[in-house]
Amino acid sequence: MSSTVNRVQHTAFIDQYGRQKRKLRISVTDRCNFKCSYCMPEHPEWVKKHHLLSFESLYRFCQFMVQRGIEQIRITGGEPLMRQGVVHFIAQLHRLKQFGLKRISMTTNGHYLGQYALALKQAGLDDLNVSLDSLDEQQFKQLTQKSVCPVLAGIYASQRVGLTVKVNCVLIKNCNENQIVPLTLWAKAHHIELRFIEFMPLDGDQKWSVAQVVTEQDILDELATVFQHIALVGQSHNPARQYIVDGAVVGIISTISHSFCQQCDRLRLTAQGEFYTCLFAEKSVNIKTLLEHLDEHENTTALDTTLTQAIWSKASGFLEIQAQKKDNPRKISMHVMGG
Ligand code: GTP
Ligand code: 5AD
Ligand code: SF4
Repeated sequence: MSSTVNRVQHTAFIDQYGRQKRKLRISVTDRCNFKCSYCMPEHPEWVKKHHLLSFESLYRFCQFMVQRGIEQIRITGGEPLMRQGVVHFIAQLHRLKQFGLKRISMTTNGHYLGQYALALKQAGLDDLNVSLDSLDEQQFKQLTQKSVCPVLAGIYASQRVGLTVKVNCVLIKNCNENQIVPLTLWAKAHHIELRFIEFMPLDGDQKWSVAQVVTEQDILDELATVFQHIALVGQSHNPARQYIVDGAVVGIISTISHSFCQQCDRLRLTAQGEFYTCLFAEKSVNIKTLLEHLDEHENTTALDTTLTQAIWSKASGFLEIQAQKKDNPRKISMHVMGG
C-alpha cells in the first residue's frame, strides 16, 4: 500500500445517526445495452468516455476507502461489463483483501456473463447479482428490449465456475406480477437466492407511480397461493428481507413499504466521480478532481475532510428525502447511480 494512503487516519466513516459505512457501490459506466423500462430513460445521454473516472483513480479511491472501514465493494453500471478493463480492475481490487476488504461483488444484467464468468471468477470476484425480471421471452423483451436466453446462459455459466449468484426481479403492477411463482420455482430448482424488488421512483423518465408498485404484502399473498411454509428470517444490514419459502431463500427489497434506512451502511460513487451518501439523495459531491490527484498529500486530506462532512450529514433515509423533495425532477436516475 502506498505511503500516501498510510498517512490517513484509520477511523471509520460514520454518519450523524451512528451508522458506520461498510459498503461501497461503484458505478463504472452509465452505458447499458438493455433498456429496462423501470430504469433507463427513453433517450439516454451517455457520459462522454473521457469524463469517466479512470480505473487508476477508482483503485486509489477504493484503497483509501478500505483504510476507512469499507469491507464490501460492489461494481455496478449501467452495465459494468460494458466498460473495457473492468475484469482487470477487479483483479486489482483483489489486492485490497489483505487490507480489510472482504467481498468484491457485481450487479449485472447478465447478457455478457457467458463470455466473462470464468475471467471474473479468476480475477477474484466473490459474487454476482443478476437482473432477471421474467422467464417469459416476450415479457422479458417488453421490459428490457433484449432476449432472456443469454442471461439464463450467463447465470448457469457463473454457477459452473463457482460464483455465488443472486437474482433480482423488479416487479411492476400489470406487467410481470405473473412471474412471482414461476421465478420462485425456477430459483428453487437452480439453488439460487431470488430477490423481488419493489419498483422505486428512480426510473429515467420519472413515470413511476405508487399504483405500479407490487408491495411486499402483494408478493407474500401471491406466494401463499402455492407455497405452504413462508417464514421471515431476517434482514440485518441488507436491503432484502429474507424469507424461507418451502425451503427456498427468497428476499424482498421493499424500500417503499419497509425501508431499511435505519441500518444503512452504504456509500456510492458514479462513473463521473459524483459521491452520493444515499440512493435517493438529491445532491452529491464531485470528487473527480481530488481522486485524479490523490497521490498528493493535501488532496488526501481534502478528500478525507470532504467525505467525512458529506457522510456525517447523510439524511436519515428515504422517507426524509421524499418529504423534503422539491418539485423539480431529480437529474440522476438508476442507470447512472447503479442501484
Ligand atoms: P447484496 O449486498 O447482495 O444484498 O446487494 P444489493 O441487493 O444491495 O445490490 P443490488 O445491486 O443487487 O441491488 C438490488 C436492489 O436493491 C436494487 O433495486 C437496488 O437499487 C436496491 N438497493 C441497493 N442498495 C440500496 C440502498 O441502500 N437502499 C435502497 N433503498 N435500496 C437499495
Ligand atoms: N426500482 C427498483 N429497482 C431498480 N433497479 C433498476 N431500476 C430500479 C427501480 N426503478 C434494479 C435493477 C438491478 C439493480 C441494480 O437495480 O433491476 O437489479
Ligand atoms: Fe441496464 Fe440495469 Fe438499468 Fe436494466 S436496470 S437498463 S440492465 S442498468
